[in-house]
Amino acid sequence: MAKTSSPAPRATGNRSTTPVSDTFKDYIASNWADRQDSNPAAREQAAFAAARRSRLSKMYPGKRLIIPAGAAKVRSNDTDFPFRAHSDFAYLTGWGADSEPDSVLVLEPEESGHQATLYFRERAGRDSDEFYANPQIGEFWIGPRPSLAQVAADLGLETKGIAELESVLDKVDSGTLIIRDADRDLTDQVDGRRLLDAEVDSVDEDGDLQLARDLSEAKLVKDEFEISELRKAVAATKLGFDDVIGDFDAIVAHPRGERLVEGTFNRRARADGNTVGYDTIAASGPHACILHWTRNTGPVREGEMILLDAGIELESYYTADITRTLPISGKFSPIQRKVYEAVLEAADAAFAIVKPGIRFREIHAAAMAVIARKTAEWGLLPVSAEESLDPGNQYHRRYMVHGTSHHLGIDVHDCAKARREMYLDGLVEPGMVFTIEPGLYFQPDDLTVPDEYRGIGVRIEDNILVTENGAENISAGIPRTVPDVENWLLGRTGK
Ligand code: GLY
Ligand code: MN
Ligand code: MN
Repeated sequence: MAKTSSPAPRATGNRSTTPVSDTFKDYIASNWADRQDSNPAAREQAAFAAARRSRLSKMYPGKRLIIPAGAAKVRSNDTDFPFRAHSDFAYLTGWGADSEPDSVLVLEPEESGHQATLYFRERAGRDSDEFYANPQIGEFWIGPRPSLAQVAADLGLETKGIAELESVLDKVDSGTLIIRDADRDLTDQVDGRRLLDAEVDSVDEDGDLQLARDLSEAKLVKDEFEISELRKAVAATKLGFDDVIGDFDAIVAHPRGERLVEGTFNRRARADGNTVGYDTIAASGPHACILHWTRNTGPVREGEMILLDAGIELESYYTADITRTLPISGKFSPIQRKVYEAVLEAADAAFAIVKPGIRFREIHAAAMAVIARKTAEWGLLPVSAEESLDPGNQYHRRYMVHGTSHHLGIDVHDCAKARREMYLDGLVEPGMVFTIEPGLYFQPDDLTVPDEYRGIGVRIEDNILVTENGAENISAGIPRTVPDVENWLLGRTGK
């Protein structure tokens, strides 16, 4: 099926009761009030997306650039996962959670610059049967789609119906680049046409990969809109953490309390944002030692700590990524506190060095200096802290195998295709936003640590904005010191 035709309804014949008589079709197509349409004002991000397109245009003179939103993904039979447009598409259009599946942004080269056009499946007329008979895309089933004029006004972009994408595909030549991982079918079509044009057997993907890399690198420094969205995502996430603490009694009472934590956070994410920016890690007791514990099937017990790594994604797709490790009963035990304060010291040491001009990798090094010193002081390492920090040793990393920081934005692990020299080895610049998230994890069966440490896992994760002269912890309002965390939990215990 050509990409640009309407998808047929998926087979539901053995349970479908939609009448098929001509009498019914004529009847349901008639007697609808005119749509009361008005065009919205351009959304706030439209101007920012235009500036991003303009920067990209300058980098690719004469090239046709195709940035698909991607298709809905099947979860099972005729049921799809919630649709999420490709992040590069959202970045360049400003269309987030309300994007239409199968849309495509095309930057068509012109004499100078590019003409940007957004192709999408505009709403179907009442003279089609799509609106009542197609459960995947029909208006009766999933709600109305916007018109071409509405989206054009909303995003400040020229829009065309998806059928007209065919004429773009007809022009595809070896001067065309596509974001390959957004839409498999469309990429295959584009590849087929490029092969014909170049009269070769295999597609040279280098140009496509460079486009993806350049977009990742463009996202390293956030614009004003992105920073404001990230602040809002952090504020919503704070409310989600408050909600979880407020529900602790019910959470402790349930045999799968971790699932209740996930559910409570998710309620806030759906109410105040689009969804969660990644699967919530609700890791109580020894589960905290499993870095990406997302099964969340365990109990939450008094006397233990829960590591909650969760972030709310807004309708624009920008997400927070926050971790707090909380003593369920409201007070840290002496050993919990000792580990917690070491991790906090590592986080603070890393934050203290952040300013424009340092290398991104130095942030991790600052955190690791503290982790090595603490674990050496506690007698856990077979060598001194200095020796452990030697790149040839790294004994302390047994207790923290992950990195300390990653960029954050429209993706939780943002800018992932940036070159190493721009990311890990790159210089920190004003407008960058990244996490600082050191941890210490003592596995329940780790024979290198005394019994009292075993099963304790702590991570503290904040979201950091680089400013002209230093840095701002934009999640500092979510309690993180021992007294502040214990005070926060008073809301639950009242003690
Ligand atoms: N939530 C995943 C991470 O912290 O990177
Ligand atoms: Mn993170
Ligand atoms: Mn996280």
